[in-house]
Amino acid sequence: RRATESRHNSEICPALNSPSQDIEEVIENSKKAGLSALLAVAEHAGEFDKIISLSQRFPGFIFPCLGVHPVQSVSPEQQRGASLQDLDAALPIIEKYKDHLVAIGEVGLDFTPRFVSNDTDKESQRQVLIRQAQIAKELDLPLNVHSRSAGRPTIHLLKEQGVERALLHAFDGKPSVAMEGVKAGYFFSIPPSIIRSEQKQKLVKQLPLENICLETDSPALGPEKQVRNEPKNISISAEYISKIKGVSLEEVMEVTTQNALRLFPKLKLAIRP
Ligand SMILES: *[C@@H]1O[C@H](CO)[C@@H](O)[C@H](O)[C@H]1NC(C)=O
Ligand SMILES: *[C@@H]1O[C@H](CO)[C@@H](O)[C@H](O)[C@H]1NC(C)=O
Repeated sequence: RRATESRHNSEICPALNSPSQDIEEVIENSKKAGLSALLAVAEHAGEFDKIISLSQRFPGFIFPCLGVHPVQSVSPEQQRGASLQDLDAALPIIEKYKDHLVAIGEVGLDFTPRFVSNDTDKESQRQVLIRQAQIAKELDLPLNVHSRSAGRPTIHLLKEQGVERALLHAFDGKPSVAMEGVKAGYFFSIPPSIIRSEQKQKLVKQLPLENICLETDSPALGPEKQVRNEPKNISISAEYISKIKGVSLEEVMEVTTQNALRLFPKLKLAIRP
């Protein structure tokens, strides 16, 4: 079985935190499940080196994405919207590793009220996203995009900025808004939590398979709430999409793999096209 696209949320990724020593096992299990490549996605400059080390430890299997997420942690309990200062720390590291990156991400907008309380905060997130969209263009890389409670503003901003290649991950907006993204040529990745999310099921009904990728968002967005998710669970997304769309599992795997290769051409190193 071939892989499509997956991601590892490094923030709380067991692979990257010292208490969990089972990275070898997680990778072994994902290979056994048929995956050929994983994307490891950063959220802030403080973890860029870890993402790069992981990709060097598993060359040709784990591919790095670096970017500044719209929500930044001050402490495990306290989060705030991203600001241009957060980018200052990130830019030199992105520049240093630019040839190794498969995407700029995770970037985006998150207007969840507990993270942003006013227009100044929203504008600051917009500026951080705009700057990273420009960097992605300069480096000829796609954007890996988070949006929460901000589906419409995110897609509008990407279009305004002339972004041509983008993955909207775990999109929480309406199908009608997602279809605006489809018109712009964007892809939408679907996590295993689709089995317990009516919103994601509705989304997949509307989205053409030609615009769908697979992700796990490990360790979040697994099939079971509060249970650590792993890349091997990506088959759950594929199976559920196959059921909703009434097409074979093979077709879902084939088309989503081709989509991932179109979006992330550097994955051709790991997956035969
Ligand atoms: C907006 O909210 C932030 C906290 O999220 C606060 O620090 C800032 O002062 C507020 N700005 C305005 C203009 O109200
Ligand atoms: C998903 O992965 C987790 C971690 O390995 C595992 O405990 C869980 O059973 C998997 N879920 C399914 C439905 O296979």
